[in-house]
Amino acid sequence: MDRIVVEGGPRLSGEVHASGSKNSTLALMAAALLVDGETRYRNVPRLRDVDAMLEILCAVGADAEWVEGEPHTVRIDGSRVSNPEAPYDLVRKMRASFMVMGPLLTRFGRARVSEPGGCAIGVRPVDQHLKGFEALGGKIRLDHGYVEATTPGLEGARLAFDVTTVNGTQNVMMAATLANGETVLENAAREPEVVELAQVLNMMGADVRGAGGDRITVRGVERLRGIQHTVAGDRIEAGTLLTAGLVTGGDVKVTGIDPAIMESTLEKLREAGAEVELGRDEVRARAPDGLRGIQVVTAPFPGYPTDMQAQIMATLCVANGSSVVTERVFENRFMHVPELQRMGADITLSGRSAHLRGRNRLMGAPVMATDLRASAGLLVAALAAEGETTVNRVYHIDRGYERIEEKLRGLGALVRREG
Ligand code: EPZ
Repeated sequence: MDRIVVEGGPRLSGEVHASGSKNSTLALMAAALLVDGETRYRNVPRLRDVDAMLEILCAVGADAEWVEGEPHTVRIDGSRVSNPEAPYDLVRKMRASFMVMGPLLTRFGRARVSEPGGCAIGVRPVDQHLKGFEALGGKIRLDHGYVEATTPGLEGARLAFDVTTVNGTQNVMMAATLANGETVLENAAREPEVVELAQVLNMMGADVRGAGGDRITVRGVERLRGIQHTVAGDRIEAGTLLTAGLVTGGDVKVTGIDPAIMESTLEKLREAGAEVELGRDEVRARAPDGLRGIQVVTAPFPGYPTDMQAQIMATLCVANGSSVVTERVFENRFMHVPELQRMGADITLSGRSAHLRGRNRLMGAPVMATDLRASAGLLVAALAAEGETTVNRVYHIDRGYERIEEKLRGLGALVRREG
């Protein structure tokens, strides 16, 4: 079983390039199923989750693969999709694959997708996705762990999500692109990944307006065409790399990222005392006078991203003064806390908040990764710890970070992969 070993201490400094966005890529790959033709995406990160989505697309009959000689390009040909069914064995590996349901239902009038079930960070139901498909006239039934949806043809409708859901907004937005008439989504998610998906759908010939706001309008069209698109940089990976620099008292510049899509993260880093410099597609952060304690509350975009919660918690563990980190998006996203406590962090949990008293240094220790972002938080903490930390179960990290140890080594970290 792979593990990552970190010798804490060195100040990280230098430049590192952000990979393409995992969460944008996954939704964009599902969108290619809407097209009776070929779609190509560039700047796609080489991640386990992307490979899992390629498997799902092939399972429903699409021709989907990495392009030979172009390590960050995938091509997806949706012209021979024949079997709109996504099996349990593939969906359980990566719950975002539930986003194939909207495209399959609206294009083929039928979709059968395994219910993704819960995960380490929460129950994560898909009731809002199903509410959306039903509002557009889809007939939904649960059948032995599968969601079966059928329709003679979706009809545009107005619906309001009860909770702001990113993949729910994306799934229903895709379904509405080929529906008859106009759909209005209220309380829609405003994440940059929703905006990028809407931009790509419009490049394919769709008519999506208002993405980025909480009301999105989609006018249905007859068909969509294949396009070529370069995926935006990953704002969560970029944020993780900046905290890796700050926690060591270093100076890191991340390139290949649009600072505008990570403003709430940068705002919190500034509040903690970091000097943040922005360029057109780069961000630099350092804290020559050290960091101070702050309050962080996660929320849907443009609020502070829950996917950056563990990383800033790890960073605040070595800040001067106390901090409070409150998780409002997922009900069980503090799995990294007991592991940080094993490294000597002074953290008390009460309800959905973690109360931290900053300390000078953490201690290296063997720790267990439980989910993707928790493991990123442990990696950040390990960089500032005294001695060696072994992060076990790093397959979690490989789901969302491309060659993370190489990138950190490039900044001066003492990191190696074992196993
Ligand atoms: C997306 O998940 C991201 N994943 C997550 O990133 C991210 O944490 C999350 O958005 C929030 O920003 C991808 O884009 C692939 P939600 P998603 O639906 O869409 C509840 C990572 O680390 N809810 O916005 O699944 C839900 O339980 C991953 O890269 C319902 O109640 O998240 C949660 O409490 C982890 N019913 C809240 O809404 C529904 O039908 C927000 O979840 C849907 C969601």
